[in-house]
Amino acid sequence: GIDISKLLSETGYTTYDDGLANTASTMSAITYIDGDAGVLRYRGYPIEQLAKESTFLETAYLVIYGELPTAAELATWEDRIRRKTMVDERMREFFKMFPRRSHPMPVLASGLMMLSTYSFDSVDYTPEAIEKATERLIAKVPTLAAYGYKNSRGEAMLYPDNSLSYIENFLRMSFAYPTEPYEFHDEITRALDVLLILHADHEQNCSTSTVRLIGSSGANIYASVAGGVNALSGPLHGGANQAVVEMLSAIKESGISVKEYVQQVKDKKAGIKLMGFGHRIYKNYDPRAAIIKEHADKVMSLKAGRRDLLKLAQELEHAALEDDYFTERKLYPNVDFYSGLIYEAMGFPKEMFTVLFAIGRLPGWIAQWRELVTNPKRKIGRPRQIYIGEGERDYVPLGDR
Ligand code: ACO
Repeated sequence: GIDISKLLSETGYTTYDDGLANTASTMSAITYIDGDAGVLRYRGYPIEQLAKESTFLETAYLVIYGELPTAAELATWEDRIRRKTMVDERMREFFKMFPRRSHPMPVLASGLMMLSTYSFDSVDYTPEAIEKATERLIAKVPTLAAYGYKNSRGEAMLYPDNSLSYIENFLRMSFAYPTEPYEFHDEITRALDVLLILHADHEQNCSTSTVRLIGSSGANIYASVAGGVNALSGPLHGGANQAVVEMLSAIKESGISVKEYVQQVKDKKAGIKLMGFGHRIYKNYDPRAAIIKEHADKVMSLKAGRRDLLKLAQELEHAALEDDYFTERKLYPNVDFYSGLIYEAMGFPKEMFTVLFAIGRLPGWIAQWRELVTNPKRKIGRPRQIYIGEGERDYVPLGDR
Protein backbone atom coordinates (compact mmCIF):
# COMPACT_ATOMS: atom_id res chain seq x y z
CA GLY A 1 0.00 0.00 0.00
CA ILE A 2 2.99 2.34 -0.01
CA ASP A 3 3.34 4.70 -2.96
CA ILE A 4 7.10 4.56 -3.53
CA SER A 5 7.19 7.27 -6.22
CA LYS A 6 5.24 9.68 -3.98
CA LEU A 7 7.63 8.97 -1.11
CA LEU A 8 10.64 9.50 -3.36
CA SER A 9 9.37 12.86 -4.55
CA GLU A 10 8.56 13.90 -0.96
CA THR A 11 11.89 12.83 0.50
CA GLY A 12 13.98 14.10 -2.37
CA TYR A 13 15.77 10.79 -2.88
CA THR A 14 16.17 9.72 -6.46
CA THR A 15 17.32 6.17 -5.79
CA TYR A 16 15.43 3.41 -4.05
CA ASP A 17 17.05 0.10 -4.82
CA ASP A 18 15.55 -2.77 -2.82
CA GLY A 19 18.20 -5.42 -2.15
CA LEU A 20 20.76 -3.12 -3.85
CA ALA A 21 20.11 -5.13 -6.99
CA ASN A 22 21.07 -2.31 -9.32
CA THR A 23 23.57 -0.34 -7.29
CA ALA A 24 27.33 -0.47 -7.88
CA SER A 25 28.83 0.17 -4.44
CA THR A 26 32.43 0.24 -5.60
CA MET A 27 34.83 0.06 -8.51
CA SER A 28 36.82 -3.15 -8.50
CA ALA A 29 39.51 -4.78 -10.63
CA ILE A 30 39.19 -8.28 -9.15
CA THR A 31 36.30 -10.28 -10.58
CA TYR A 32 34.27 -9.93 -13.77
CA ILE A 33 30.84 -11.55 -14.15
CA ASP A 34 28.56 -11.53 -17.18
CA GLY A 35 25.45 -13.07 -15.69
CA ASP A 36 23.54 -13.25 -18.97
CA ALA A 37 26.31 -15.13 -20.74
CA GLY A 38 27.35 -17.23 -17.70
CA VAL A 39 30.91 -15.83 -17.63
CA LEU A 40 33.13 -15.59 -14.54
CA ARG A 41 36.75 -14.37 -14.58
CA TYR A 42 39.23 -13.64 -11.81
CA ARG A 43 41.63 -10.87 -12.82
CA GLY A 44 40.71 -11.59 -16.43
CA TYR A 45 41.29 -15.36 -16.33
CA PRO A 46 38.22 -17.53 -17.16
CA ILE A 47 37.06 -19.75 -14.30
CA GLU A 48 37.12 -22.80 -16.59
CA GLN A 49 40.87 -22.38 -17.23
CA LEU A 50 41.68 -21.84 -13.57
CA ALA A 51 39.60 -24.88 -12.54
CA LYS A 52 41.50 -26.98 -15.06
CA GLU A 53 45.04 -25.69 -14.65
CA SER A 54 45.45 -23.91 -11.32
CA THR A 55 45.52 -24.78 -7.63
CA PHE A 56 43.62 -23.02 -4.87
CA LEU A 57 46.74 -21.42 -3.39
CA GLU A 58 47.88 -20.17 -6.81
CA THR A 59 44.37 -18.81 -7.52
CA ALA A 60 44.34 -17.15 -4.08
CA TYR A 61 47.61 -15.41 -5.04
CA LEU A 62 46.10 -14.31 -8.35
CA VAL A 63 42.93 -12.97 -6.72
CA ILE A 64 44.83 -11.12 -3.98
CA TYR A 65 47.86 -9.79 -5.91
CA GLY A 66 46.35 -9.41 -9.37
CA GLU A 67 48.79 -11.56 -11.39
CA LEU A 68 49.62 -15.24 -11.67
CA PRO A 69 52.80 -15.91 -9.66
CA THR A 70 56.08 -16.97 -11.27
CA ALA A 71 57.38 -20.37 -10.12
CA ALA A 72 59.64 -18.64 -7.56
CA GLU A 73 56.82 -16.40 -6.29
CA LEU A 74 54.49 -19.38 -5.93
CA ALA A 75 57.09 -21.41 -4.02
CA THR A 76 57.70 -18.48 -1.63
CA TRP A 77 53.95 -17.89 -1.15
CA GLU A 78 53.27 -21.59 -0.44
CA ASP A 79 56.19 -21.72 1.97
CA ARG A 80 55.07 -18.60 3.85
CA ILE A 81 51.55 -20.02 4.18
CA ARG A 82 52.85 -23.42 5.30
CA ARG A 83 54.87 -21.79 8.09
CA LYS A 84 51.79 -20.04 9.53
CA THR A 85 49.27 -22.89 9.78
CA MET A 86 49.70 -23.43 13.54
CA VAL A 87 47.52 -21.49 15.97
CA ASP A 88 48.41 -20.53 19.53
CA GLU A 89 47.90 -23.40 21.98
CA ARG A 90 45.45 -21.28 23.97
CA MET A 91 43.19 -21.17 20.93
CA ARG A 92 42.96 -24.95 20.99
CA GLU A 93 41.71 -24.68 24.57
CA PHE A 94 39.28 -21.94 23.51
CA PHE A 95 37.76 -24.27 20.92
CA LYS A 96 37.02 -26.84 23.62
CA MET A 97 34.72 -24.32 25.36
CA PHE A 98 32.04 -24.51 22.65
CA PRO A 99 29.12 -26.85 23.26
CA ARG A 100 29.68 -30.29 21.77
CA ARG A 101 27.34 -30.01 18.79
CA SER A 102 27.95 -26.32 17.98
CA HIS A 103 27.48 -25.44 14.33
CA PRO A 104 31.00 -24.91 12.95
CA MET A 105 30.12 -21.57 11.22
CA PRO A 106 29.68 -19.48 14.39
CA VAL A 107 32.66 -21.35 15.82
CA LEU A 108 34.75 -20.26 12.81
CA ALA A 109 33.55 -16.65 13.12
CA SER A 110 34.44 -16.69 16.83
CA GLY A 111 37.83 -18.25 16.01
CA LEU A 112 38.55 -15.40 13.61
CA MET A 113 37.78 -12.82 16.29
CA MET A 114 39.99 -14.71 18.73
CA LEU A 115 42.75 -14.68 16.09
CA SER A 116 42.44 -10.89 15.91
CA THR A 117 43.32 -10.64 19.60
CA TYR A 118 46.72 -12.20 18.82
CA SER A 119 47.53 -9.55 16.27
CA PHE A 120 48.89 -6.32 17.71
CA ASP A 121 49.01 -4.78 14.26
CA SER A 122 45.47 -5.57 13.20
CA VAL A 123 44.42 -1.95 12.62
CA ASP A 124 47.73 -1.06 11.02
CA TYR A 125 47.52 -0.37 7.29
CA THR A 126 51.24 -0.58 6.58
CA PRO A 127 51.98 -2.93 3.65
CA GLU A 128 53.89 -5.25 6.03
CA ALA A 129 50.95 -5.53 8.44
CA ILE A 130 48.51 -6.18 5.58
CA GLU A 131 50.83 -8.90 4.19
CA LYS A 132 51.15 -10.55 7.57
CA ALA A 133 47.38 -10.57 8.17
CA THR A 134 46.78 -11.92 4.65
CA GLU A 135 49.14 -14.86 5.15
CA ARG A 136 47.89 -15.57 8.68
CA LEU A 137 44.29 -15.74 7.49
CA ILE A 138 44.93 -17.95 4.46
CA ALA A 139 47.13 -20.25 6.56
CA LYS A 140 45.09 -20.48 9.75
CA VAL A 141 41.46 -20.53 8.60
CA PRO A 142 41.63 -24.22 7.51
CA THR A 143 43.15 -25.07 10.91
CA LEU A 144 40.34 -23.18 12.70
CA ALA A 145 37.74 -24.82 10.45
CA ALA A 146 39.09 -28.30 11.20
CA TYR A 147 39.21 -27.51 14.94
CA GLY A 148 35.56 -26.43 14.80
CA TYR A 149 34.67 -29.66 13.04
CA LYS A 150 36.62 -31.91 15.40
CA ASN A 151 35.13 -30.08 18.38
CA SER A 152 31.60 -30.58 17.08
CA ARG A 153 32.30 -34.32 17.15
CA GLY A 154 34.08 -34.34 20.50
CA GLU A 155 37.25 -35.63 18.80
CA ALA A 156 40.90 -34.70 19.28
CA MET A 157 42.05 -31.64 17.32
CA LEU A 158 45.11 -32.49 15.23
CA TYR A 159 48.08 -30.20 14.67
CA PRO A 160 48.75 -29.25 11.05
CA ASP A 161 51.27 -31.46 9.24
CA ASN A 162 53.24 -29.02 7.13
CA SER A 163 54.83 -31.70 4.99
CA LEU A 164 51.45 -31.92 3.26
CA SER A 165 49.86 -29.63 0.68
CA TYR A 166 47.30 -27.03 1.74
CA ILE A 167 44.34 -29.21 0.74
CA GLU A 168 45.80 -32.48 2.08
CA ASN A 169 46.59 -30.78 5.38
CA PHE A 170 42.99 -29.67 5.76
CA LEU A 171 41.59 -33.09 4.82
CA ARG A 172 43.92 -34.78 7.30
CA MET A 173 43.08 -32.35 10.13
CA SER A 174 39.39 -32.96 9.44
CA PHE A 175 39.33 -36.73 9.01
CA ALA A 176 42.41 -38.36 10.58
CA TYR A 177 42.59 -39.50 14.21
CA PRO A 178 45.73 -39.37 16.38
CA THR A 179 46.15 -43.13 15.88
CA GLU A 180 44.51 -43.47 12.47
CA PRO A 181 45.86 -41.78 9.32
CA TYR A 182 43.63 -40.36 6.58
CA GLU A 183 43.83 -42.21 3.27
CA PHE A 184 44.27 -39.67 0.47
CA HIS A 185 42.64 -40.06 -2.95
CA ASP A 186 43.95 -37.80 -5.72
CA GLU A 187 40.42 -37.33 -7.12
CA ILE A 188 39.08 -36.11 -3.76
CA THR A 189 42.04 -33.82 -3.08
CA ARG A 190 41.73 -32.34 -6.57
CA ALA A 191 37.92 -32.01 -6.36
CA LEU A 192 38.25 -30.03 -3.12
CA ASP A 193 41.02 -27.90 -4.67
CA VAL A 194 38.72 -27.13 -7.62
CA LEU A 195 35.69 -26.41 -5.42
CA LEU A 196 37.72 -23.88 -3.43
CA ILE A 197 38.98 -22.26 -6.69
CA LEU A 198 35.36 -21.91 -7.86
CA HIS A 199 34.42 -20.08 -4.66
CA ALA A 200 37.48 -17.79 -4.47
CA ASP A 201 35.64 -14.58 -5.35
CA HIS A 202 32.32 -13.46 -6.71
CA GLU A 203 32.47 -9.65 -6.69
CA GLN A 204 29.97 -7.74 -4.50
CA ASN A 205 27.83 -10.62 -3.16
CA CYS A 206 26.20 -10.37 0.28
CA SER A 207 29.21 -11.54 2.35
CA THR A 208 31.79 -9.58 0.34
CA SER A 209 29.69 -6.43 0.55
CA THR A 210 29.51 -7.04 4.30
CA VAL A 211 33.32 -7.35 4.47
CA ARG A 212 33.66 -4.07 2.58
CA LEU A 213 31.00 -2.27 4.66
CA ILE A 214 32.68 -3.30 7.91
CA GLY A 215 36.13 -2.46 6.50
CA SER A 216 34.92 0.94 5.32
CA SER A 217 34.63 2.08 8.94
CA GLY A 218 38.33 1.34 9.40
CA ALA A 219 37.65 -1.94 11.23
CA ASN A 220 40.48 -4.45 10.90
CA ILE A 221 40.63 -7.33 8.45
CA TYR A 222 39.76 -9.99 11.06
CA ALA A 223 36.58 -8.16 12.13
CA SER A 224 35.69 -7.63 8.47
CA VAL A 225 36.25 -11.26 7.45
CA ALA A 226 34.40 -12.56 10.53
CA GLY A 227 31.45 -10.42 9.35
CA GLY A 228 31.75 -12.10 5.96
CA VAL A 229 31.56 -15.53 7.58
CA ASN A 230 28.40 -14.50 9.44
CA ALA A 231 26.76 -13.09 6.30
CA LEU A 232 27.65 -16.27 4.43
CA SER A 233 25.93 -18.44 7.04
CA GLY A 234 22.40 -17.56 5.83
CA PRO A 235 20.41 -20.09 3.78
CA LEU A 236 19.96 -17.67 0.86
CA HIS A 237 23.73 -17.31 0.52
CA GLY A 238 26.38 -19.84 1.66
CA GLY A 239 23.90 -21.93 3.60
CA ALA A 240 22.16 -22.92 0.36
CA ASN A 241 24.42 -25.94 -0.25
CA GLN A 242 23.32 -27.39 3.10
CA ALA A 243 19.70 -26.51 2.26
CA VAL A 244 19.98 -28.35 -1.09
CA VAL A 245 20.99 -31.65 0.54
CA GLU A 246 18.25 -31.19 3.16
CA MET A 247 15.72 -30.52 0.39
CA LEU A 248 16.81 -33.60 -1.58
CA SER A 249 16.69 -35.80 1.55
CA ALA A 250 13.24 -34.45 2.45
CA ILE A 251 11.90 -35.20 -1.06
CA LYS A 252 13.35 -38.71 -0.85
CA GLU A 253 11.87 -39.37 2.59
CA SER A 254 8.44 -37.95 1.77
CA GLY A 255 8.23 -40.21 -1.29
CA ILE A 256 6.75 -37.47 -3.50
CA SER A 257 7.75 -37.39 -7.15
CA VAL A 258 10.00 -34.81 -8.78
CA LYS A 259 7.01 -33.56 -10.74
CA GLU A 260 4.95 -33.05 -7.56
CA TYR A 261 7.79 -31.20 -5.84
CA VAL A 262 8.34 -28.89 -8.81
CA GLN A 263 4.59 -28.18 -8.80
CA GLN A 264 4.69 -27.29 -5.08
CA VAL A 265 7.53 -24.83 -5.76
CA LYS A 266 5.58 -23.28 -8.62
CA ASP A 267 2.40 -23.00 -6.53
CA LYS A 268 4.38 -20.95 -3.97
CA LYS A 269 1.88 -22.12 -1.34
CA ALA A 270 4.26 -23.71 1.11
CA GLY A 271 6.79 -20.90 0.55
CA ILE A 272 9.33 -23.41 -0.71
CA LYS A 273 11.98 -22.64 -3.29
CA LEU A 274 14.04 -24.94 -5.38
CA MET A 275 17.21 -24.53 -3.34
CA GLY A 276 20.40 -24.28 -5.39
CA PHE A 277 18.44 -22.66 -8.21
CA GLY A 278 18.40 -19.01 -9.19
CA HIS A 279 20.93 -16.27 -8.75
CA ARG A 280 20.83 -12.50 -8.48
CA ILE A 281 23.43 -12.13 -11.24
CA TYR A 282 23.39 -15.32 -13.31
CA LYS A 283 20.42 -15.45 -15.61
CA ASN A 284 22.01 -18.40 -17.35
CA TYR A 285 23.70 -21.62 -16.18
CA ASP A 286 26.15 -20.72 -13.37
CA PRO A 287 29.54 -21.65 -14.92
CA ARG A 288 30.70 -22.96 -11.53
CA ALA A 289 27.79 -25.42 -11.36
CA ALA A 290 28.80 -26.89 -14.73
CA ILE A 291 32.37 -27.54 -13.48
CA ILE A 292 31.23 -28.97 -10.13
CA LYS A 293 28.88 -31.36 -11.87
CA GLU A 294 31.85 -32.93 -13.68
CA HIS A 295 33.56 -33.71 -10.37
CA ALA A 296 30.46 -35.13 -8.66
CA ASP A 297 30.61 -38.43 -10.53
CA LYS A 298 34.37 -38.83 -10.04
CA VAL A 299 34.15 -38.38 -6.27
CA MET A 300 31.09 -40.58 -5.95
CA SER A 301 32.76 -43.42 -7.81
CA LEU A 302 35.36 -43.49 -4.99
CA LYS A 303 33.27 -42.82 -1.92
CA ALA A 304 29.89 -44.07 -0.91
CA GLY A 305 28.11 -40.75 -1.36
CA ARG A 306 24.38 -40.32 -1.75
CA ARG A 307 24.16 -41.53 -5.36
CA ASP A 308 20.39 -41.62 -4.92
CA LEU A 309 20.39 -37.90 -4.09
CA LEU A 310 22.70 -37.11 -7.04
CA LYS A 311 20.24 -38.90 -9.32
CA LEU A 312 17.35 -36.99 -7.77
CA ALA A 313 19.24 -33.69 -8.23
CA GLN A 314 19.80 -34.51 -11.91
CA GLU A 315 16.10 -35.31 -12.33
CA LEU A 316 15.10 -32.05 -10.61
CA GLU A 317 17.47 -30.06 -12.81
CA HIS A 318 16.10 -31.72 -15.91
CA ALA A 319 12.47 -31.09 -14.85
CA ALA A 320 13.18 -27.43 -14.02
CA LEU A 321 15.06 -26.76 -17.26
CA GLU A 322 12.08 -28.15 -19.19
CA ASP A 323 9.58 -25.99 -17.32
CA ASP A 324 8.46 -22.51 -18.40
CA TYR A 325 8.16 -21.30 -14.78
CA PHE A 326 11.91 -21.65 -14.36
CA THR A 327 13.05 -20.66 -17.84
CA GLU A 328 10.84 -17.54 -17.90
CA ARG A 329 12.36 -16.43 -14.59
CA LYS A 330 15.82 -17.47 -15.80
CA LEU A 331 16.31 -19.86 -12.89
CA TYR A 332 19.22 -22.25 -13.46
CA PRO A 333 21.36 -24.34 -11.09
CA ASN A 334 23.81 -22.23 -9.11
CA VAL A 335 27.15 -23.21 -7.51
CA ASP A 336 25.37 -24.76 -4.53
CA PHE A 337 23.20 -27.23 -6.40
CA TYR A 338 25.84 -29.95 -6.65
CA SER A 339 28.58 -28.82 -4.23
CA GLY A 340 26.86 -30.14 -1.08
CA LEU A 341 26.55 -33.60 -2.61
CA ILE A 342 30.30 -33.75 -3.32
CA TYR A 343 31.19 -32.48 0.15
CA GLU A 344 28.87 -35.12 1.57
CA ALA A 345 30.59 -37.84 -0.49
CA MET A 346 33.97 -36.59 0.77
CA GLY A 347 32.73 -37.32 4.29
CA PHE A 348 31.76 -33.83 5.50
CA PRO A 349 28.50 -33.48 7.44
CA LYS A 350 26.17 -30.83 6.04
CA GLU A 351 27.00 -28.34 8.81
CA MET A 352 30.52 -28.14 7.33
CA PHE A 353 29.44 -27.26 3.77
CA THR A 354 29.22 -23.52 4.42
CA VAL A 355 32.54 -23.62 6.28
CA LEU A 356 34.12 -25.06 3.11
CA PHE A 357 32.54 -22.22 1.15
CA ALA A 358 34.11 -19.78 3.62
CA ILE A 359 37.59 -21.30 3.19
CA GLY A 360 37.15 -20.92 -0.56
CA ARG A 361 35.80 -17.34 -0.42
CA LEU A 362 38.56 -16.13 1.92
CA PRO A 363 40.96 -14.92 -0.84
CA GLY A 364 38.12 -12.86 -2.31
CA TRP A 365 37.24 -11.24 1.02
CA ILE A 366 40.92 -10.48 1.64
CA ALA A 367 41.47 -9.09 -1.88
CA GLN A 368 38.35 -6.91 -1.65
CA TRP A 369 39.32 -5.62 1.81
CA ARG A 370 42.83 -4.81 0.53
CA GLU A 371 41.43 -3.06 -2.54
CA LEU A 372 39.23 -0.99 -0.21
CA VAL A 373 41.82 0.03 2.37
CA THR A 374 44.56 0.83 -0.14
CA ASN A 375 42.25 3.27 -1.90
CA PRO A 376 43.18 6.70 -0.49
CA LYS A 377 39.76 8.05 -1.53
CA ARG A 378 37.75 5.37 0.29
CA LYS A 379 34.56 6.49 1.99
CA ILE A 380 32.63 4.95 4.84
CA GLY A 381 29.69 2.90 3.53
CA ARG A 382 26.49 4.54 4.69
CA PRO A 383 23.31 3.88 2.67
CA ARG A 384 20.19 6.00 3.12
CA GLN A 385 16.60 4.88 3.76
CA ILE A 386 13.08 6.00 3.02
CA TYR A 387 11.34 6.57 6.32
CA ILE A 388 7.84 5.09 6.47
CA GLY A 389 7.18 5.27 10.23
CA GLU A 390 5.01 7.59 12.35
CA GLY A 391 5.11 11.38 12.04
CA GLU A 392 6.04 13.48 15.08
CA ARG A 393 3.97 12.71 18.19
CA ASP A 394 4.09 13.56 21.89
CA TYR A 395 5.35 11.25 24.57
CA VAL A 396 2.49 9.65 26.54
CA PRO A 397 3.16 9.10 30.27
CA LEU A 398 3.08 5.42 31.30
CA GLY A 399 -0.12 5.75 33.34
CA ASP A 400 -2.05 7.28 30.41
CA ARG A 401 -1.33 4.55 27.80
N1 ACO B 1 12.90 -21.55 -6.67
C1 ACO B 1 11.70 -21.12 -7.13
N2 ACO B 1 11.45 -19.85 -7.51
C2 ACO B 1 12.45 -18.98 -7.40
C3 ACO B 1 13.74 -19.34 -6.95
C4 ACO B 1 13.94 -20.69 -6.57
N3 ACO B 1 15.12 -21.10 -6.14
N4 ACO B 1 14.54 -18.25 -6.96
C5 ACO B 1 13.79 -17.25 -7.41
N5 ACO B 1 12.53 -17.67 -7.69
C6 ACO B 1 11.42 -16.88 -8.25
C7 ACO B 1 10.86 -15.91 -7.23
O1 ACO B 1 9.82 -16.48 -6.48
C8 ACO B 1 10.43 -14.80 -8.13
O2 ACO B 1 9.20 -15.18 -8.73
P1 ACO B 1 8.04 -14.10 -9.03
O3 ACO B 1 8.63 -13.15 -10.04
O4 ACO B 1 6.88 -14.90 -9.53
O5 ACO B 1 7.76 -13.43 -7.72
C9 ACO B 1 11.46 -14.76 -9.23
O6 ACO B 1 11.97 -16.09 -9.30
C10 ACO B 1 12.60 -13.77 -8.97
O7 ACO B 1 13.20 -14.11 -7.74
P2 ACO B 1 13.84 -13.09 -6.73
O8 ACO B 1 13.65 -13.63 -5.34
O9 ACO B 1 13.35 -11.70 -7.01
O10 ACO B 1 15.36 -13.15 -7.14
P3 ACO B 1 16.58 -12.62 -6.29
O11 ACO B 1 17.59 -12.17 -7.26
O12 ACO B 1 16.14 -11.64 -5.24
O13 ACO B 1 17.06 -13.92 -5.48
C11 ACO B 1 18.24 -15.85 -4.85
C12 ACO B 1 18.18 -14.65 -5.82
C13 ACO B 1 18.23 -15.35 -3.38
C14 ACO B 1 19.55 -16.59 -5.08
C15 ACO B 1 17.03 -16.76 -5.13
O14 ACO B 1 17.06 -17.23 -6.46
C16 ACO B 1 16.94 -17.92 -4.15
O15 ACO B 1 16.44 -17.75 -3.04
N6 ACO B 1 17.45 -19.13 -4.54
C17 ACO B 1 17.44 -20.27 -3.67
C18 ACO B 1 18.56 -20.15 -2.65
C19 ACO B 1 19.92 -20.37 -3.27
O16 ACO B 1 20.15 -21.33 -4.00
N7 ACO B 1 20.88 -19.48 -2.90
C20 ACO B 1 22.26 -19.57 -3.38
C21 ACO B 1 22.59 -18.37 -4.21
S1 ACO B 1 24.18 -18.53 -4.88
C22 ACO B 1 25.23 -18.22 -3.64
O17 ACO B 1 25.02 -17.61 -2.66
C23 ACO B 1 26.55 -18.79 -3.82
